Amino acid sequence: MTHHRSIHDNGSSATASVHAGEIRDKPLHALVDPIFQTSSYTFQNMAEVVAFQEAHNKGHVEGSYEYGRYGNPTIAAAEARLAAMEHAETAILVASGMAALAYTFLQYLPGGSHVIITDDSYRRTRQLVEDHLKKFNVSCTVVPLGDFEALEAAIRPETRILFSETPSNPYLRVLDVERFAEIARRRGLISVLDCTFATPINLTPIDYGIDVVIHSATKYLGGHNDLLAGVISGSHEVVDYIRAYVGILGGISDPNTAYLLLRGLKTLSLRVKQQNQTAQKVSEFLANHPLVEQVFYPGLEIHPGHEIAKKQMGGYGGVLSLTIKGGRQESFRFIDALKIPFISASLGGAESLVLHVAAQAYSDLNAEQCLKAGIPQNLVRLALGIEDADDLIADLDQALRAMHG
Ligand SMILES: Cc1ncc(COP(=O)(O)O)c(C=O)c1O
Repeated sequence: MTHHRSIHDNGSSATASVHAGEIRDKPLHALVDPIFQTSSYTFQNMAEVVAFQEAHNKGHVEGSYEYGRYGNPTIAAAEARLAAMEHAETAILVASGMAALAYTFLQYLPGGSHVIITDDSYRRTRQLVEDHLKKFNVSCTVVPLGDFEALEAAIRPETRILFSETPSNPYLRVLDVERFAEIARRRGLISVLDCTFATPINLTPIDYGIDVVIHSATKYLGGHNDLLAGVISGSHEVVDYIRAYVGILGGISDPNTAYLLLRGLKTLSLRVKQQNQTAQKVSEFLANHPLVEQVFYPGLEIHPGHEIAKKQMGGYGGVLSLTIKGGRQESFRFIDALKIPFISASLGGAESLVLHVAAQAYSDLNAEQCLKAGIPQNLVRLALGIEDADDLIADLDQALRAMHG
């Protein structure tokens, strides 16, 4: 009943996204995995209780359940699928991308330790690492993404984690993943990479030696802007240590979310391939547009991360940023004139979304402070959905023309 299929452990992420982790012999021979909506599990008699506890104490936990905070078959199916897609031994599904990051940092950063993070990472992640972990006497150094000399120089005896994102947000910088992983290995550190923008269709960092891969599954993995979840993938040795902590802190996922995720994952490969193509076409259009100042997209040859991305990625992703010729007011008029993308802070779903980075993600900073943080008032992030690329281009064109009145 609870055997999770793992034939795709080393196969293509596209096949794994449809089949891996599914329960083969489902109740009543149903085709689709059921939602096990239960908070607890029962035992027929005390002999079963004792056998379960003995097996559990020896570390044999797969396929048997006691209480919902420690496991659920629908969640386990999603975790097995995500692990197979990531080429990882195991994965943990938790309440959100931030929860995935928080569990990993909290478990591997004891009081007095130090973490190195690259710049241009998701703002909340930087706030977690730079501000909140201070309460636990954890210190942090921020180094520019791609500056490996600065990265090595920042390592101290108490450093435990090297953290980065690729592609990064909002400038879509690309990390040389193999080089990053090699430094962590050589210096005895844990490498943690947030690959939300890449997805396992475009990048499988475990193959390059990364220890822990994190995703906000809220984005591409869910793919329909209707769930929040986070995933932590890696080896049993590294990830099971975090799993025990999740059971104590309690910010788990839930069976309905896991079901929606399993459903969304089946089309991940189709969606991401389409989004790669659309983003490439749209970025080329915008790069040649007279009302656009600059386009940031790794698929463009002029992008500084293009060569590394070409080497390590199967596609360049569905997010791009642009600066328009104008300031805050012109960018607002451009965004307001768009008819297809919604104004929204997320990304990765079927619907295209547009974000004025300064006004939404950095609204607590004034224009000068934003500029200091590398965020000008004419910076707009565009997360492409699965609409027709030519329709999106026509919409962007009319909105750019409308922005000067
Ligand atoms: C790169 C990246 N990491 C992590 C997160 C946090 O994920 P969640 O919103 O699922 O907590 C986000 C969300 O915007 C993100 O863009």
